Amino acid sequence: MQKRSRNIIIVTIIIALTGYLAWRFVRPMNIFIVEEKFAWPVDTSKVPDILQTLHAEECGNCHTEFYKEWKTAMHSRAWTDPYFQADWQFDDKQDICRLCHTPLDRQQPHKILGYRDKNKWNPILGDNPGFDPALQHQGITCAVCHLREGKIIGVLGNTNAPHPVKKIDDPNQVCMRCHVVAAESWGTFVKFPPCGTVAEIRKSTASPADQADLKVLTGLLSPEELKQYSPVQTGKSGEIQVNDTKSLGCVQCHMPAINRPLVEGGPIRTARQHLWRGGHDPEMVKSAFKAKLSLETDNGKQKVRFTIVNKGAAHFLPTGTPDRYLTVQMRLYDKQGKILDERNEILIRKVMWRPFIIDLWDTRLQRWKPRSWDMKLPDDKTVSSAEVIVTYHLLNEKRRKRINYQNKDPIAYEVFRQRIEL
Ligand code: HEC
Ligand code: HEC
Ligand code: HEC
Ligand code: HEC
Ligand code: HEC
Repeated sequence: MQKRSRNIIIVTIIIALTGYLAWRFVRPMNIFIVEEKFAWPVDTSKVPDILQTLHAEECGNCHTEFYKEWKTAMHSRAWTDPYFQADWQFDDKQDICRLCHTPLDRQQPHKILGYRDKNKWNPILGDNPGFDPALQHQGITCAVCHLREGKIIGVLGNTNAPHPVKKIDDPNQVCMRCHVVAAESWGTFVKFPPCGTVAEIRKSTASPADQADLKVLTGLLSPEELKQYSPVQTGKSGEIQVNDTKSLGCVQCHMPAINRPLVEGGPIRTARQHLWRGGHDPEMVKSAFKAKLSLETDNGKQKVRFTIVNKGAAHFLPTGTPDRYLTVQMRLYDKQGKILDERNEILIRKVMWRPFIIDLWDTRLQRWKPRSWDMKLPDDKTVSSAEVIVTYHLLNEKRRKRINYQNKDPIAYEVFRQRIEL
């Protein structure tokens, strides 16, 4: 009798567990917790007198160059971007996504009145008579970053603006709303979050100078590039508290400084270009690393070595959404151009999404940490040349098909190729 009831309990537990896992497969865990800082749309009830619609063109009438640059940036496409649209529709068109991709209240078809759940994934929606679909299509428009409590925020503070201005200390504060997702949770993914590169910067600066690394870097980088190398200890690795945004450097790298007037005929000031180049820009990705294919001799045996280092991105390379990855293809050819041997490597943050979210491995390039791969040459001297190709992938083909993203732009492109004759 006792044995039977024990069996019933075990069977019940197994059924419940299987049921739970099956449910988690159908309805996966939320990938992040909706933090207070982005849980509510940006309030636009107060607007400077000279402005009305808040469309970028309004600001662009005076700030022409800023407007032209913004038009070329992914921020202006954060809503219309066909990849975002495909992903969003595949993901049941969740309202939560709007809070970063179109955060102004006028960009939201509904008002958010509150949340039904603790993790804030289930908003209570009301009518929004102020909804402006044209503004929604501007994605991360000027007012998203610049309008707070009826004032335009900026870092200069000494200008002659026809609109009220509020000075902020550090321009990087602007990026924090969307590029850091942090919260208290047991989920590893939440602790080392996606689309939020701050944790990576902290980890990269946390590593002390390593003599072996330094030797490799000296052989790879120019003296100018080497001057930048200054890893300093800044506490626990991977921590994501953003106490000091000044040291993050987002704006320094992603909004290059330029001397120009803010408006036509205005005084020349040190301004920043509104470019925000990233994974969609081959030149930006190329600027992140230095690489070399070389012939090495080890104990009398010859081998081909590929070395690569992230010298230009304070966070990992690649960063951002875990869709991004790099592939390295090394090949040995004979005289006729036939492939004799090959080696393929992938630099990726690999995440298991279902039934639980678990970080499986992370082979991306941390700043200043060089990585090398060798290929032994056969003794028979048949190898006549070696080649390496590095490719940046915005997402993989399987995922593209799964979410039915009909891309017009390529989803991968070459960022490095070198061939050596042996
Ligand atoms: C009628 C013209 C006009 C319009 C419209 C306008 N601005 Fe300005 N803005 C100016 C002028 C003029 C300055 C000061 C230029 C100077 O002194 O160099 C300025 C200054 C600024 C500054 C610098 C503030 C600081 O202290 O750093 C920012 C940022 C700014 N504007 C953003 C915007 C945004 C965003 C919009 C649209 C929501 C906008 N402006 C609309 C004319 C305009
Ligand atoms: C309101 C939210 C928000 C703010 C604030 C914001 N971003 Fe973004 N950013 C995004 C989103 C969303 C994307 C992705 C757009 C897309 O590709 O559809 C993005 C993309 C980017 C990219 C990648 C572009 C590419 O080619 O893939 C860079 C770089 C970037 N942002 C830097 C910054 C910096 C620096 C700041 C601060 C000055 C900032 N962002 C502020 C939401 C934001
Ligand atoms: C993703 C956030 C973001 C968006 C979108 C954005 N800006 Fe800015 N803008 C900034 C930041 C950050 C600064 C401060 C840069 C610095 O350190 O000088 C800035 C500065 C400015 C300045 C002052 C000059 C300067 O570089 O400091 C002007 C003018 C300006 N922005 C206009 C615009 C206009 C016009 C648009 C829309 C076409 C726009 N911005 C969109 C983040 C943004
Ligand atoms: C030292 C320069 C540097 C600093 C500092 C820096 N970045 Fe980057 N960032 C780069 C380079 C180079 C790339 C292109 C290579 C890559 O994707 O890692 C890049 C890429 C990106 C991308 C594109 C990811 C994608 O999927 O397309 C985003 C988003 C981004 N950075 C955000 C930030 C934010 C937010 C900060 C500050 C917390 C920051 N970066 C600080 C140099 C920098
Ligand atoms: C906390 C702010 C935030 C929220 C909420 C958010 N995103 Fe993003 N998203 C970003 C940022 C920042 C980037 C840029 C990172 C990068 O380029 O890798 C981005 C980039 C993306 C990209 C890559 C775009 C490209 O062109 O490659 C897709 C797709 C995307 N988000 C989909 C979604 C979906 C779907 C949701 C809702 C489930 C969502 N996002 C919610 C901030 C957010």
